[in-house]
Amino acid sequence: MTVRIGVIGTGAIGRDHARRINQVLGGATVVALSDVNRASAEAVKSDIAPDAAIFTTGEELISSPDVDAVLVTSWGATHEQYVLAAIAAGKPCFCEKPLATTADGAKRIVDAEVAHGKRLVQVGFMRRYDAGYVALKQFVDTKIGAPIMVHAAHRNPAVPEQYVTPMAIHDTMIHEIDVLRWLLDDDYISARVLFPRSAARSHAKLRDPQIVILETAKGTIIDVEIFVNCHYGYDIQCEVVGEDGVATLPEPMAIQTRLGAKLQNDILTDWKDRFIASYDVELQDFINAAAKGTAAGPNSWDGYVAAITSDACVAAQEAEGGAVAINLPTRSALYN
Ligand SMILES: NC(=O)c1ccc[n+]([C@@H]2O[C@H](COP(=O)([O-])OP(=O)(O)OC[C@H]3O[C@@H](n4cnc5c(N)ncnc54)[C@H](O)[C@@H]3O)[C@@H](O)[C@H]2O)c1
Repeated sequence: MTVRIGVIGTGAIGRDHARRINQVLGGATVVALSDVNRASAEAVKSDIAPDAAIFTTGEELISSPDVDAVLVTSWGATHEQYVLAAIAAGKPCFCEKPLATTADGAKRIVDAEVAHGKRLVQVGFMRRYDAGYVALKQFVDTKIGAPIMVHAAHRNPAVPEQYVTPMAIHDTMIHEIDVLRWLLDDDYISARVLFPRSAARSHAKLRDPQIVILETAKGTIIDVEIFVNCHYGYDIQCEVVGEDGVATLPEPMAIQTRLGAKLQNDILTDWKDRFIASYDVELQDFINAAAKGTAAGPNSWDGYVAAITSDACVAAQEAEGGAVAINLPTRSALYN
């Protein structure tokens, strides 16, 4: 079966996912496109999906009998309405992060999916598909003993002027929030944020860097450094300290040189390159599950927990070092 996919939001990542589906992956084809900026959908049709129909609204695309499954890659604030419409139509739906911009919005999606009675939603937390994190999880699960501490870092060379302090959580750390919970098979119970002095490259509305400290239900303490004006490169670090040993996320492949009396490796500078292969793996997983009328991978519950945790981390930024409790509701059996 070829899964007929409709893409809502054909900007940077929507276009790239359409390219993956039509040119890289197997088992699916892009048959429909929609974007509030119609010219963007027209451009993707002409460059990548010549046979796709263009719909004026995402809702019309979702209800089309020619669409089997939906990709939601529009702006974050519009995700909830489209995911809810896809669930109402009973169609598998891949939603880029965030699942919703509020925890209440994510809960409405969880409730709708639970009422439907079957998984339909995959959230775009692609790090779970990265070969480095998958290998690290194997070590954490089987080799280093029970995890006690995690030291992680998320460093960007620079961010746009409009990037302000809470975005360090909602836009940047959201990936650590999801992947570390998956890596440890654990849930968060509290968050604290510490601010060293701001780096000179930051500005009045961005306190950068910051250190987020998360405590888990099993008693692991996680520190995540977020430094979005680090200047030198795009650098993701993760070290798990267990009872018996330490496991570290592998560096991206880079040619090591001995040149001019220096031993060196390049460091990536563009975030798009860091997890490039994982996007292919996550979307193939979506296609394979959609062919069976369901969804795989990170689920709505994961998106909901990420939203609750993000809100707590932003509250912790405002609490200036004080701990903020993270209280999760009971998980529905659909997500066990
Ligand atoms: N997983 C990742 O690593 C990753 C990477 C990049 C982006 N994203 C997420 O993907 C989403 C899109 O990001 P982007 O970088 O492609 O942004 P973008 O601005 O390049 O593209 C978004 C597109 O959505 C369209 N759009 C906005 N509102 C719409 C609506 N109501 N209906 C239909 N189309 C609408 C815009 O016109 C635009 O073409 C964001 O939620 C972002 O967080 C995730």
